[in-house]
Amino acid sequence: MGVAVHVEGLTKSFGSQNIWSDVTLTLPPGEISVMLGPSGTGKSVFLKSLVGLLKPERGSIVMSDTDIVSCSERDLYDVRRLFGVLFQDGALFGSMNLYDNIAFPLREHTKKSESEVRSIVMEKMDMVGLAGTEGKLPGEISGGMRKRAGIARALVLDPEVILFDEPDSGLDPVRVAYLNQLIVDLNAQIDATFLIVTHDIGTARTVPDNLGLLFRRHLAMFGPREQLLTSQEPVVRQFLNGRREGPIGMSEEKDVAQVEAEMAALEARGGDQHNGVGPKGASGGEAVPPQLEPSPGLPERKAVRRRQERVARMLHTYDPATADAIRASLPADLLALADSGSYAPTAAGGREWRTEDGAELVVPDPRGRP
Ligand SMILES: Nc1ncnc2c1ncn2[C@@H]1O[C@H](COP(=O)(O)OP(=O)(O)O)[C@@H](O)[C@H]1O
Ligand SMILES: [Mg+2]
Repeated sequence: MGVAVHVEGLTKSFGSQNIWSDVTLTLPPGEISVMLGPSGTGKSVFLKSLVGLLKPERGSIVMSDTDIVSCSERDLYDVRRLFGVLFQDGALFGSMNLYDNIAFPLREHTKKSESEVRSIVMEKMDMVGLAGTEGKLPGEISGGMRKRAGIARALVLDPEVILFDEPDSGLDPVRVAYLNQLIVDLNAQIDATFLIVTHDIGTARTVPDNLGLLFRRHLAMFGPREQLLTSQEPVVRQFLNGRREGPIGMSEEKDVAQVEAEMAALEARGGDQHNGVGPKGASGGEAVPPQLEPSPGLPERKAVRRRQERVARMLHTYDPATADAIRASLPADLLALADSGSYAPTAAGGREWRTEDGAELVVPDPRGRP
């Protein structure tokens, strides 16, 4: 199973330019999380901070008991090997064929023999559907295949956390759909922790277990998919519906009066197609569409049940719309677990939510961790 990544109070600036402040979230082990945000809000900077390529000035990123922000170079080297990264541009070497590109991290970071390298490279190429293309150069294949090659390369060191920076950029909608299925299939097979940065609304609505949105130099929201997909927050609604009306402007943020006028006009026209706000649109969009499942023949995603148990115990911390949507997705035994919860006094004089099985005591977190 992948490991959890705990980000706490993270702040990053370049000189006097603050990129984001006080970002706090947990990527639950083995789950798929998606981070949305307008261009230039520092999504790539966030991914680079997670792998230790950029150094935030405040906060912590804890993974396997190591804080990536403050650890030694030696520890950083070790912890980095737990990550697989698909960078935004694919970052393949143009003069190397796919086989050598994908073998590169193994030859660079391990002492494996060429026959071991071969069996790993062939296995990963097969997993991403690239078997038979070993001899091709990156320039000879489609954009979608280059993304797959980048993913195969991110897999060769058996990472526990995989970061995808806009894996769908530059791809047509059909290729995006195939890529999303591949991501879900890989998660089912390796149960690693996934974080995907994307602009694609369809991806955000159907792929992740958890969704977040970076906006105005802060993490506007991060939580179970149901939380963002039912959210009434103007910025979340604007983003998930891909429309002009709302706080996100073309090049800069809009002023409050303009946003309010736009939202009133939108409401008068019947509201959004999605997000459970207003009537359903012509395409019949529902607030919380079903999540993509692994292809037939693959194992189930182990993260699904783990997440259900987690959110069942947290149900009382969510707003009513989120809690209703989560309820609709829970199996009977976990609904019973959620309903068995009650507040119990703590030794310190406070109170704590306790579910019947008592396995976990969950204190509501005001910052909305998943
Ligand atoms: N190494 C760097 N040095 C200085 N500024 C940077 C650096 N990397 C990114 N930035 C700035 O940080 C901001 C966020 O960039 P980025 O993370 O690429 O946004 P996104 O991926 O959300 O589109 C941009 O204004 C960019 O110019
Ligand atoms: Mg980026």
